[in-house]
Order: sequence, then C-alpha cells, then structure tokens
Amino acid sequence: MASAEELKRAAGEAALAHVEDGMRLGIGTGTTAEAFVRALAVKVKDGLTVTGVSTSERTERLCREVGVPMATLENVPQLDLTVDGADEIDSRLRLVKGGGGALLREKIVAAASKRMIVVADESKLVDTLGAFPLPIEINGFGMIATYLAIQDVARRLELPCDLTLRRDGETPFITDSGHLILDASFGRIPDPQALSRALHDVPGVVEHGLFLGLASEAVIATRGGVRHLTA
Ligand code: A5P
Repeated sequence: MASAEELKRAAGEAALAHVEDGMRLGIGTGTTAEAFVRALAVKVKDGLTVTGVSTSERTERLCREVGVPMATLENVPQLDLTVDGADEIDSRLRLVKGGGGALLREKIVAAASKRMIVVADESKLVDTLGAFPLPIEINGFGMIATYLAIQDVARRLELPCDLTLRRDGETPFITDSGHLILDASFGRIPDPQALSRALHDVPGVVEHGLFLGLASEAVIATRGGVRHLTA
C-alpha cells in the first residue's frame, strides 16, 4: 500500500503536467508542496525555464537548494500558476490552509496568480471544513482584545470555538511576517464565507486560513491513482 510520502510525491509529480515553459510560478509551503518542488527541480535541470515566487522562507531555502530559479513578488507581481498544499479541501475546492504557518504569504501569492492548483493526498478531502483548526494570523499588539473579539465572532455565528495560541517550543510561533497565530477549533464551518467576512472585520486579524474561490483545480493522490478535481 502506498505510504503518505509516496502519495505526496505522486501529487507533486502529477501537478507538473500543468507547468509550461516560461511560467511564473507561485510555490507553496508544506510537505506536499515540497514534493512538487523536488519534481520541478528535475525538470529545471532538464532545461525547463520557470521563475518561482515562494510563499515562505522555508520554501525559498528549498528552491534555492535544489536549483529552482527564484524571484520576489515585488519583481514579478503577476503569476501564471500557484501550486500549493492544503490542510482541508471540500468538494467546492474551498480550503483550510496555514498548518505550516505560511497562510498570509500563501494567500497573497495565490491571489496574484491566474490559477491555483492544490496538491494533496486523499486524507485532506472533507465534506465540511473545520475539523482541522483554522489558523488565524494576528498582530501581536492587543492580542487579548483580538482573542476576545474572535470569540465574539464565533458566538454571533453560533459556532463553538476553542482558541489556542500556536507555540514553537517554549515561545509563541512567529510567522515569516512577524505575527502570531491563533488556531481556532470550530469543529464544523457550515458557512465559510460568513466566517471569513466576520474574521476580516476584526481589527488585529491580519489573515485567516480559509481560501475561498482561489483554487481552480486539485490534484489528489489516492491509493487508486491520481484524481483531478475542478471547482
Ligand atoms: C502551510 O502553511 C500550509 O498551508 C500547507 O500548505 C498545509 O499545511 C499542507 O501541508 P502538507 O502538505 O505538509 O500537509
């Protein structure tokens, strides 16, 4: 039976079919996106020309290590395609992302791309988003007030909500952009659009991990082969 690693590799390799010579590519964060990077690097060595824009410092380091040519979003502000992983994917290709803490840059890069393809193994497919705690990136200033305001949002939307400050060992986890992350366990998010809007209205919330209307396609590796889903 295929291991989780093999499934991630299969998804990463299958996504290569969407990459064309000369493309400006947004490159995601996480283990499945890294499988895509390694497959891409082989093509680059064989002569494929692409320009990558990374969604995290971690991805940037890997791309440089394996020889994928990189630029910044400042230099290349419009991208042809972004390939990224996800923590949850529903049937309308709405996503929860940010398990690796890169949600802010991931969303900026995806929004700057004409298309976003999600790469994942079948364990990420869900009927309803929300079992995976939703990462919410917040400013450090007034974090208790922001915490209370998010709980208020959950009360208004009648969602149970357990909020945890993400930690990195003894200290709070700090994102590449210098913010904190609250992981919000809602259990189920029946109306992701309403939650997205309400969270964006909270001062102090920088971004959240609901990606709605951004992914146009998903490449899902299953034990029975690779499936391609479209929104
Ligand atoms: C990074 O912040 C995330 O959005 C990842 O894309 C997501 O957590 C999926 O990661 P894996 O591919 O490692 O499961």
